[in-house]
Amino acid sequence: MSVMPAEERTIVTPAEADHPLLFEQGAPGATAVSLPESDVPEIDAASAIGAEYLAEDAPELPGFPEIGEMDLVRHYTRLSHRLFSVDENFYPLGSCTMKYNPRVNERAAAMPEFANLHPYQPIEDVQGILETLFHLRTYLEEISGLSEVTLQPSAGAQGEMTGLMMINAYHRSRGENRPKVLTPDSAHGTNPATCTMCGRQACTVKSRSDGRVDLDDLRAQVDDQTAALMITNPNTVGVFDEQISDIAAIVHGCGAQLYLDGANMNALLGIARPADFGVDVMHFNTHKTFSTPHGCGGPGAGPVGVAEHLRPHLPVPQVVRCDDGSYAWCEDRSKSIGKVRSFYGQIGVLLRAFVYIRALGSDGLRNASEKAVLSANYLAARLKDRYHFPFPPPYAHEFVMVPRFGSARVTELDVAKRLIDYGIHPPTMSWPIQHCLMIEPTETESLATLDHFAEAMIAIADEVEQDPETVRTAPHNMPVRRMDEVAASRKPNIRWPR
Ligand SMILES: Cc1ncc(COP(=O)(O)O)c(C=O)c1O
Repeated sequence: MSVMPAEERTIVTPAEADHPLLFEQGAPGATAVSLPESDVPEIDAASAIGAEYLAEDAPELPGFPEIGEMDLVRHYTRLSHRLFSVDENFYPLGSCTMKYNPRVNERAAAMPEFANLHPYQPIEDVQGILETLFHLRTYLEEISGLSEVTLQPSAGAQGEMTGLMMINAYHRSRGENRPKVLTPDSAHGTNPATCTMCGRQACTVKSRSDGRVDLDDLRAQVDDQTAALMITNPNTVGVFDEQISDIAAIVHGCGAQLYLDGANMNALLGIARPADFGVDVMHFNTHKTFSTPHGCGGPGAGPVGVAEHLRPHLPVPQVVRCDDGSYAWCEDRSKSIGKVRSFYGQIGVLLRAFVYIRALGSDGLRNASEKAVLSANYLAARLKDRYHFPFPPPYAHEFVMVPRFGSARVTELDVAKRLIDYGIHPPTMSWPIQHCLMIEPTETESLATLDHFAEAMIAIADEVEQDPETVRTAPHNMPVRRMDEVAASRKPNIRWPR
């Protein structure tokens, strides 16, 4: 497969880039709707509302755009073409798992029988959704090997908080207050943030040069003041830490709990069960593992599983199957940490996860993980001669590499921006280690797409040797080129001056 040189590709023409805003289009009186004539008499606002309630100096109307339907449709369609999306472009965004969201998931979640439910409906009316949630709960229990799962948390990060709250409750129930939580230095930022949110002190455990936990440092830090170790495995540099059972033994030896940030379960489905390697609590990220949509911080779902001894602390209500085969919400759990979310969780997202699991089945889930791992290792093998890999293979479902080009001053940002010209979304950058790109192809990409990515990366490495300026000034074919990213996030200008 050949890679199309960026100069021959035209994603957006300059004319489109300068296309006027809606406010600058149209004409007075133009409208995109034709409403029937009103058949109710016009009334005088002062007599209907009361003159005393009307402002004397009514503020000027904001001046909404006036535009015809066709121009309106074209405006938004044109804007949508400027977007990168997982439906149009490859998104190798490491640690974010931008996998395809199957349409069948959407269809199920949109079924009126689910979509029109109200959380205050009587229990007899909602047996179908309760049964579905109950089964989802049991699938996640089977996948993790843990005793019980709550579906309440609305994101991975909220799952972390729920898990740590249960760990705190567990220690308190034994008359202990353990102030410390350990996190490896490769941890996702949400892990130490969760510790702080839950009133614990986050302490960093060093990693070895191969990305695995430094067991000597772990032994030196874990003690009877430690509530838990929060570990991600496979971890954020893309390697599976085979020492995990030893890690669990060290942590448990001090009475602490092992929390698994299960964000990377996409590499383990049907291959390894966290309970079998000593995990006490874990969260799932349904968007990363079960193909539910990414929502920029939510609404998502972060179900949490616990081992037997933590079950009394699970949030309520819990969906249960009664002896007569009906389903119900159970509030009866004396040591529960309470409710962590309004009503019953993010039902629409959970439904999508349910459909994904049912559609793939147990063999299909294992196959998805095997493909995710194979795709990552295939790409790494194709790129190993042109880029620097700080951690040795094999990798799990993602890997970290560093663009290092001798004397050419080309950074990871330049490479990421140049990829846009090849129609590829930039990978995660500069995290979890400095100057890196983090690649996660997922299982849903074809061999042709993986090859296109590999060839684009190799072409960029060639460009750096022959014409580094092209890479340094990329992207060349987008409506906006290099933005002032700090100003864009610190001083966003989102106001249209009339
Ligand atoms: C390793 C890891 N931990 C935690 C999270 C946080 O999950 P969420 O974005 O669902 O809150 C993520 C997000 O992708 C992650 O990759």
